[in-house]
Amino acid sequence: MSKLRNILKHLTKPFLNAGLQFYYRKPRKYAYQDIEVIVHPEVFPPHLTLSTKILLDFISEIELQNKTFLELGCGSGIISLLASKKGAIVTASDINKTALAYLEKASDKNQLNVSCIYSNLFENLQGKQFDYIIINPPYYPKQPKNIKEQAWFCGEDFQYFKDLFQQLPKFQSKENNIYIILSEDCQIEKIIAIASENNLTFAEVFKTKKAGEINTIYTIKQSDT
Ligand SMILES: C[S@@+](CC[C@H](N)C(=O)[O-])C[C@H]1O[C@@H](n2cnc3c(N)ncnc32)[C@H](O)[C@@H]1O
Repeated sequence: MSKLRNILKHLTKPFLNAGLQFYYRKPRKYAYQDIEVIVHPEVFPPHLTLSTKILLDFISEIELQNKTFLELGCGSGIISLLASKKGAIVTASDINKTALAYLEKASDKNQLNVSCIYSNLFENLQGKQFDYIIINPPYYPKQPKNIKEQAWFCGEDFQYFKDLFQQLPKFQSKENNIYIILSEDCQIEKIIAIASENNLTFAEVFKTKKAGEINTIYTIKQSDT
């Protein structure tokens, strides 16, 4: 991250946080193409962050007809709804029950089928296989204090990633595609190192710079041992 951008971010963060909190004090609409969701204040907001929109644009280019698709940590579920619109057989999981309840309503309203599952990572997804797994993870190294913060913070010691990469190999095959998005603002090297302890490698598939921030989508594969 450039030094100037770092300084600007540091200066604007308190204002942004206050602004975000004010904006998200009540449920807000978010739309992509003709799909609409209502985002509850306790749920990850896709409006002012870049990652969700980047994933939506990325997924809109993939052929998904009859493919099994998992959005691990679905938040508002707009990505799951898009995948369903593209003909995928979709599972959306999260530990945030409010997110899942709102997604169920959005699934009815948009007449798009999504199976919503409460699950801590893969805990309640045992035995299932997916052609596509999409992850927009919480990546800031801080202990989350509540369910809302779990959308942003992965634990001081990156516990989210330690658990994710330990569980992921079971859900991986030679044929399936696992995509994760990371911002240059997070500790990418540390996250990649945790993956490699579990014999997983990252390869860049898409990179974009928006509002001065670089976001990269990686595919995760088993290392050749
Ligand atoms: C950055 S948000 C992304 C939300 C959505 N996928 C998107 O792109 O807009 C991360 C999501 O992961 C969920 N999450 C965090 N830890 C989780 C865990 N251990 N198991 C399942 N979901 C988790 C959060 O509740 C949040 O909805």
